[in-house]
This record gives sequence, C-alpha cells and structure tokens, in this order.
Amino acid sequence: MKTVAVISRKGGAGKSTVAVNLAAALRERGLRAVLADADPLRSSSEALRAHSLSVVETSAAKLFALVTASSRSGCDVLVIDTPASPEADIVSAIKVADLCLVVTRPTYLDLAAGLKTIDLLRQLRAPGLIVLNQCASPRRGQEARVVSGTLETLRFAGLPVSGVALRVRQAYQMALSQGLGVVEWEPAGQAASETRDLTELVLERLEDGRQAWRPANDVARPGGLGAAQS
Ligand SMILES: Nc1ncnc2c1ncn2[C@@H]1O[C@H](COP(=O)(O)OP(=O)(O)OP(=O)(O)O)[C@@H](O)[C@H]1O
Ligand SMILES: [Mg+2]
Repeated sequence: MKTVAVISRKGGAGKSTVAVNLAAALRERGLRAVLADADPLRSSSEALRAHSLSVVETSAAKLFALVTASSRSGCDVLVIDTPASPEADIVSAIKVADLCLVVTRPTYLDLAAGLKTIDLLRQLRAPGLIVLNQCASPRRGQEARVVSGTLETLRFAGLPVSGVALRVRQAYQMALSQGLGVVEWEPAGQAASETRDLTELVLERLEDGRQAWRPANDVARPGGLGAAQS
C-alpha cells in the first residue's frame, strides 16, 4: 500500500478538492483507494457523505494506526486530506506518507505559504510534488503571467512541480456539491482529463519508492503546464 498526503499550510488552496478527486480517479482506475479525512473541518468526508468510496474520519494522532489498518485491509492507496494548521498535524501526515502533494494556487500569498510547506518537507527529507491548483487556462497557448511567474519562483524551490496543473473549472465545485469526483460527474470533461493525468503522475512517483528528499527536475506532461509564457 502507498500513502499520499495532500498538504498546504494555506487554507483554501484546494487540498480537499485534490484529495477527493485523486481518490475517485484512483478508484476509477481499479485501485482500492481510501480517503482519510484528517481535517477537523471534515470537508472531504462531508462532501462524500453518500459516496461509496471508503472515507475514514481520523486525526493526526491516529494516522500511524490507520496506515497499518488500511494496509492490512487490502487498501492500495491511502489518500490523506489534511488541515492547513496546526503544523504538528501536517508533520504527522508527512511522516506516514510515501508522497506529499503540496497544493498551491498561483498567487503571491499562496506561494509564500507554499514555500513554507516545501521547507517543512525539506527539513523532514520527505518526498513531495508541487501541484498548482486553480490556474487560469492558457490563452492562445500562453500561460497567464501569474502562472508563469509562479513556475519561475518554484524552479528554485528544490521540489519537483507537477507538469499537470488543475485549472479553475466549475466542474470541481459542481462535482463536490453533488458528492462526486470530477471523473464521475463529467467523465469526458477537461477536469476529469487533467485529474486522470495527475493521478497517473502520482502513481508513477509512488512507484519510484520512498526516496530521500532531493531536488528534481520538473515533471513534464504533454498538455499540462509549460505552454509558452506571456
Ligand atoms: N481547480 C478548481 N477550480 C475551481 N474551484 C476550485 C478548484 N479547486 C478548489 N476549488 C474551490 O476552492 C474552494 C477551496 O477548496 P478546498 O476546500 O479544496 O481547499 P482546502 O485547501 O481543502 O481548504 P481548507 O484549508 O479550508 O481545508 C472550494 O470552494 C473548492 O470548490
Ligand atoms: Mg480542506
């Protein structure tokens, strides 16, 4: 079993959105995914109340035991949705994870919080991947200046950036309001497509095994980030 922690010290960055959609896409792919909601606000478990996906309400203190129990019960991938604070809870999730997804919106304040989150991973020498969320879609093949500026800053962060970004799309909000992931709500939509691409990327990174923290090149994906910059 592999464990993915979805983290960000910035509230509203999209942790629950990414966690729910990743779990739903993993399940669509035939994997047994369990979503662990370690955020006391319970956003993801609330959203998936009526969903058949396995959702466990938990806390930072129980994560280690949950990983053991999930592994024994045949789970393939445990996805942990985390709160934005306190830092100790995020650290607990990082410590049990094979991979941490650092969710960041391409804004100045998010980036500042994102860099702090990355620093936490560096201190713990934990493997991570930065996922840009709520990016404007490229216009005429060009990334918005705010997206390209964020990418430029992150080039020096020392953690790989997912070449698959999640764009601002109503589908993410609509799907959650219906208690679904985007792959179920609109299987042929662009949100579903980019979510599947991100899921493949996450699975590839997980197959690499748990590695010590080390800088790496951007993880490129066709059709993802990296359009010419405006
Ligand atoms: N790619 C996206 N496109 C459009 N809306 C999005 C996207 N990602 C997230 N949202 C919306 O942004 C809001 C915040 O997202 P979400 O709850 O996933 O963030 P969070 O990091 O889990 O927040 P918190 O720190 O409060 O737990 C939600 O209303 C969600 O529907
Ligand atoms: Mg949340």
